[in-house]
Parts: sequence; C-alpha cells; structure tokens
Amino acid sequence: SPKSLKLMIHKTNLEHSMAANSPEKLIIFDTTLRDGEQSPGASMTKDEKIRIARQLERMKVDVIEAGFAAASPGDFEAIRAIAGIIKDSTVCSLSRANDKDIARAAEALQPAERKRIHTFLATSPLHMEKKLRMTPDQVFEQAKQAVRFARKFTDDVEFSPEDGSRSDMDFLCRVLEAVIAEGATTINFADTVGYGVPELYGHMLRTLRERIPNSDKAIWSVHCHNDLGMAVANSLAGVMIGGARQVECTINGLGERAGNTALEEIVMAVRTRRDYFNLDIGIDTTQIVPASKLVSQITGFAVQPNKSVVGANAFAHASGIHQDGVLKARDTYEIMRAEDVGWSANRIVLGKLSGRNAFKQRLEELGIVLESETEVNAAFARFKELADRKSEIFDEDIIGLVSEEQQSH
Ligand code: KIV
Ligand code: ZN
Repeated sequence: SPKSLKLMIHKTNLEHSMAANSPEKLIIFDTTLRDGEQSPGASMTKDEKIRIARQLERMKVDVIEAGFAAASPGDFEAIRAIAGIIKDSTVCSLSRANDKDIARAAEALQPAERKRIHTFLATSPLHMEKKLRMTPDQVFEQAKQAVRFARKFTDDVEFSPEDGSRSDMDFLCRVLEAVIAEGATTINFADTVGYGVPELYGHMLRTLRERIPNSDKAIWSVHCHNDLGMAVANSLAGVMIGGARQVECTINGLGERAGNTALEEIVMAVRTRRDYFNLDIGIDTTQIVPASKLVSQITGFAVQPNKSVVGANAFAHASGIHQDGVLKARDTYEIMRAEDVGWSANRIVLGKLSGRNAFKQRLEELGIVLESETEVNAAFARFKELADRKSEIFDEDIIGLVSEEQQSH
C-alpha cells in the first residue's frame, strides 16, 4: 500500500544516513560508447570513440563500456584499441549470453589492464516468449551458462536481466541467485524500456536484494532509460531505496530512443545533495562540460540550452532580481558552481530584465568608468531602450552605448 511504501522509503533513508560516517562508494559506469551509440544517428568511428574514452578516463569514471564486440568488426577494433590505451578505468564490452559473443568480447578486451564482460538476457515474459522464443527454464539455463563461460576470461562479470522491470519477481529471484552463484559480480537491474516509476523501481530492487540469499555477493546496479523522462529519478530511487551502488549512465543522456540516465545529472545530484545521499563518487566534475561538448561535437547532437548542468543556460541568470541576488551572494540562485563542472564562469545575461546593479558590474568588468551616478543612470536608460529591441545585450553593445553617451557630452 502507498502508506507502507512511504514507511519503507523512510526506513531505508534512515538506515542509510545512520552509516553517515563512512560514505559508501557509488560506481559510475559510463555507456556513452555503447548504449549512447545506439541513438539513431550517433554512430562513432574508432578514433572518435578513443577520444571520448580518453576524456572519460580523465573524468575518472570507474567503468567505460566501450562497445559491443560482436556487433561489428569496427566496434571490435574500437574496443580493442580502447582496452590498450585506457589505464585508470575498467574497460567493458557488452555481449549477448552466448559463448561466441562472450569469446569475442574477451578477445577485444584482452589488452585491458582491468576488464569486464557484461552479458545480458531478457527475463520478461514478453521478451522471452515473443523475442527470444524461449521458455523461462531455457533462459535460466542460458543465463547461468553465459556467466560461467564469461568467468573463464575475467573475474569481473556483469549480468543484466534485460527488461528486468517488466519481469516476474519470482523468476528474477531464481535467475539472479543462480548467476551470482556462477560468479556474476555485478547485477544490473535494467529498465530497458523506461517503464519504471521511481518508488516502484527502487522497491523492486530492494525486494530482490532482500529475497535473494546470496545478493550481498554482488554489487547491484541500475540501468534506466528516459522514455518517460524518469531515468535519473529512477536511478536515484534504485540507489536510495534499492541499495544499488553502481549507476549506468551516458554523457548528455545520449542513448537508445529517449536516451539513458544522464551522467552529469547523477554526479551533480549526488555531489550537490551530499547531505542526503552520503555517497562517495570519484568523478572529477570539472571534466563534465568538456566531455559534454566533445560528445555533442562528435555525434552532432546539440545539447538543449536548458539542459541541467551542461546546457548553455544552466548557469545563466537573466532576470534582474536573480542577477542582483547572485551578484550579492551566488548561493541565492546557484546550488552549484559553474566552475565546478567545467564552465569558465556563471553567465549574467544582460537584457531587458536586468537591473542597474548587473549593468554597473558589467561596466566595471569592461573597465568602463563613468564619472557620476547621473552618467550611469543615463547609460542605463539607453541600455534599457536597446534591450527592448534586442534580446541579448553583448559587451560590444555596452561599449557602443557608453561611448555614444560620452560623445554626447
Ligand atoms: O537497456 C538495456 O536493457 C540494455 C542492456 C544491454 C543492459 O542496454
Ligand atoms: Zn540500455
């Protein structure tokens, strides 16, 4: 019932915050180069993938899913090259749950210092019956076999029950207990079609962890899609209610259909609300905006201006009241610092909503000294006139209107 659900959430948070002294690690698994590349039109060359992988390493992501080795020779080569170059992050390849795919993933990952094989198999009734045309018992056996085989190549094996959030809980318990027993070290609860709702998704994960006797032998992970715009919310519910300690995400939320959980949103939510999440993340946040720009430039997918954290307007202040507040104390309208995510500074956009204080501050920044308050007032009046005709007033406009002002004396 909703009431018991609410109590449950409350209890989980309480338990979590009681461990406040020693924050647990939240693993950031980036899949821009795999799920991100599944966005229609976002395919990348080997060299482009390498550039992005280097940036992800610079940003200190824990795991880089570099591609799907069996998907194409090009993807195989890209993974192999990344596996040879990247030293500080674990390199991962996706593979279907069959020996051929897994062997191909292992071959591509061979040069890696730290490698992970990520194998997946659908567990929902719909996918098993209509797509795989397999019985649940066959799926159960194949999942076990795949994990057992993958463990021959690495001791870091991830298993994803595809369409997990639409799967039967009893069946999921059976499959996941078995794959953990076979040596899966990460269990990734996939919300493949973005069907999850935060509390329910988080609660499903929690139930799985409670019901599966060997659940603590694996790290639990969330993988959410954004079909209903809830990928980030679902992921965070998976962490806080469900106890997941890995989040799968992509730069700019790139990914199949409406995309995946956005890395920049997860990282900055957990950082900014440290008071609530109390989790450790190893990300160098100043590399976030450079990563966003690189991915956008390579894929040709523009970032919407109002996108959280990485959108051009994410740290821009246009209203006069906000500008005045921010100039007095940044915390008034900023919960994060633009510089902390890699922007050069926050942006005061001068326009018709701007106040005298913001205008004066810009004059100072431009090295313009007006003799008296009367001159400032006159320049400010001209500025407002111009701003009614022009949506954004640039520094050149200000220099222009001030020199007109000075010439008229
Ligand atoms: O969305 C999905 O189910 C996936 C799996 C391969 C993890 O991307
Ligand atoms: Zn996915």
